[in-house]
Amino acid sequence: MSANIVSRLLEHYRLHARRLPWREAAPDPYRVWLSEVMLQQTTVATVTPRFARFVERWPTVEALAGAADAEILAEWAGLGYYARARNLIACAREVAARGGFPEDEAELRELPGLGAYTAAAIAAIAFGRRAVVVDTNVARVVARLFSIARPVAEAKAEIRALVERITPKERAGDFAQAMMDLGATICRSKAPRCGECPLRPDCTAFASGTPEAYPVPKAKRDRPHRFGTAWWIERDGALWLVRRPDKGLLGGMAALPGGEWGDAAPMEPVLATVAHGFTHFTLDLAIVARGEPVGEGWWQPLDTISEAGLPTLFRRAVEAVLAQRRMLFAA
Ligand code: ADE
Repeated sequence: MSANIVSRLLEHYRLHARRLPWREAAPDPYRVWLSEVMLQQTTVATVTPRFARFVERWPTVEALAGAADAEILAEWAGLGYYARARNLIACAREVAARGGFPEDEAELRELPGLGAYTAAAIAAIAFGRRAVVVDTNVARVVARLFSIARPVAEAKAEIRALVERITPKERAGDFAQAMMDLGATICRSKAPRCGECPLRPDCTAFASGTPEAYPVPKAKRDRPHRFGTAWWIERDGALWLVRRPDKGLLGGMAALPGGEWGDAAPMEPVLATVAHGFTHFTLDLAIVARGEPVGEGWWQPLDTISEAGLPTLFRRAVEAVLAQRRMLFAA
């Protein structure tokens, strides 16, 4: 099966490879390296014209190594992640000093700014070495081909092993770039174009009928759930509000008074309940009527409640009670 995958993919690449300025008949390690560093956190569309300008100004790694830091950083401006530019300068100087790029993936990995992905990409694309190249596009393609049942972040080792299994001995660079192109243009995360995909006959996610269900999304962390009570203390058309302590959740904000938030739902009869999501937990807030003001606070006329500066949770609590009341009144 993997022989079919490789031959279908490479044939498709021969016909449809994106024309990118760093792809040449005889790949130049300098251009491959520069493009891969630029593409680390920046899109192909943004990189393409910037790459062209860069290599026109500094056509070789020696030329780049001889340029002033300030000039290089200025040319990098707008590409972001400036640590990359600093590593780029250090790497250019190291490579120029040693007389060229090493061809071996492990040696490439030692150079400033070269992680596992970049070292493998350069070894494969520039030097034709068989290297296992996995970026997010490749991971998505593989997660679909083999219907991997776990989120990509949890299945890294499995994905790597599968890419290793299907990477050919020859043309590993074309294979890597073909996988990247496939992920970017056909096997897109949303609305994959399976009708155009050369790997459709091999793709188990396509066979399942719901290819876009892969990669399996990262599980949302279950947030703990809490219950709280807020007191509705009303007199002559005004509501008793308090200010929350400066420290802690909603610190210093206007609020309905209430008890601590805990694990148990209140037993009292409630006027209304609102469900609210905080970053680290979800809350059911029950609003319960009380007679006497509690703590330090103020009477806020209900017809100016919108000016009280209530945070969303309490604004929604007030609206819920008033909506209940309108309903009862209308009935
Ligand atoms: N993204 C990073 N490197 C790439 C390459 N060589 N071809 C296509 N997309 C890429």
